[in-house]
Amino acid sequence: MDRFVIEGGTPLEGTVSVSGAKNAALPAMAGALLTADGVVLRNVPRVRDIGTMRSLLDELGVDSSVTHEDFGNKVEIHARQLLSSEAPYELVKQMRASILVLGPLVARFGEAHVSMPGGCAIGARPVNLHLKGLERLGAAVSLDHGYIHAKAPRLQGGVFYFDTISVTGTENLMMAAVLADGETLLENAAREPEIQDLADLLIKMGASIEGSGTSRIRICGVPSLHGAEHSIIPDRIEAGTFLAAAGITRGHVVVERAEPRHMTAVIAKLVELGVRVESADGRIEAWGDGSLRAADAATQEYPGFPTDMQAQYMALATQAEGSSVITESIFENRYVHALELMRMGADIRVEGRRAVVRGKTPLSGAPVQASDLRASASLVLAGLAATGETTIDRAYHIDRGYERIEEKLAKAAARIRRVQV
Ligand code: UD1
Repeated sequence: MDRFVIEGGTPLEGTVSVSGAKNAALPAMAGALLTADGVVLRNVPRVRDIGTMRSLLDELGVDSSVTHEDFGNKVEIHARQLLSSEAPYELVKQMRASILVLGPLVARFGEAHVSMPGGCAIGARPVNLHLKGLERLGAAVSLDHGYIHAKAPRLQGGVFYFDTISVTGTENLMMAAVLADGETLLENAAREPEIQDLADLLIKMGASIEGSGTSRIRICGVPSLHGAEHSIIPDRIEAGTFLAAAGITRGHVVVERAEPRHMTAVIAKLVELGVRVESADGRIEAWGDGSLRAADAATQEYPGFPTDMQAQYMALATQAEGSSVITESIFENRYVHALELMRMGADIRVEGRRAVVRGKTPLSGAPVQASDLRASASLVLAGLAATGETTIDRAYHIDRGYERIEEKLAKAAARIRRVQV
């Protein structure tokens, strides 16, 4: 099992490059199930979750291959036919996003059997809306022995309203509806850039979709889709993490291959906290030279402040003068990192969905545990700012969504290394 060892306390200085967005690449890979032709995806990040999705495709009998390119991987997927329509527990328990194969499998092959994802470290995370939506499109959905079974000879278009905005729920139903008979209207849909990226791929494959990136998506079903080539959008959360790293270490980091237009809320909050940020096409620069001052933040669906940046923001807020109130509106249990940050010297009071961070408190290096992907990123940030050595156990959590974070940070003069224990 890998562990990160960080020698903190020095300002970052240098240039890092952002990988493709994991949360855009995963639905795109599932989308490749919708055609018998080959789908070529570029700028796919080299992270563990992508490997898990490939294992899942392999389990279904779908060919995929990976080629190393200058920026990210090229992944070619060819779903000529299926050997199985089952997403097994062993893979779904490693990665909840495995649920993304549900919609495409039913749409193209008429059935799917997907292990029901359980709760996870950040909350209950039900998938009721994915199932309700598929039923709305005419699928017969049942649950037994921990598996979701969905069947429909051909899905029928329909109107579906999301009671709660769901990112993968929107993606799943969009992928189901592209091959349905007739028109589907998804109301109160999620508006994340990753959804627009998936829609862009599906449109290249021959789908008819209007309104992705808005809360009303209209899809006209077509009989079949064809192959396409697509390059995945930059990872806005990885980029935000590097900007926060500049702020927390009072350093200067240039983040390349980023998409600042997807990061308005994150950049605005960092600026409010006192980080200097300048962005141009594909490039964002951040300086942590000013003194940081407290600023409240509440997570919201896009275009609001992303829940996937909440933990990193909390680490940064420990170094700001005054009290910052953080409100987590998306997930009910997403403050596990607060306890670890407190072990490093942070002053944080968690009250239900609110956390009050009082700063500025000096951080000192300590052995800490990664609990989930973004929580681990906040511990890396704290470790970079702390005096002395921080060791972060269970590095695999961070490897799920960050491509070799230690190598990228080392390019900006961070003293971080991976050790095997
Ligand atoms: C996606 C992202 C994840 C991010 C999250 C919120 C991927 C692969 N993962 O996760 O990184 O943190 O969006 O931005 O893209 N909900 C229901 N019923 C459902 C589905 C969701 O009640 O059927 C609730 C969830 O419990 C949660 C909220 O809706 O409170 C939002 O969750 P959702 O947008 O679905 O998150 P994911 O798509 O799983």
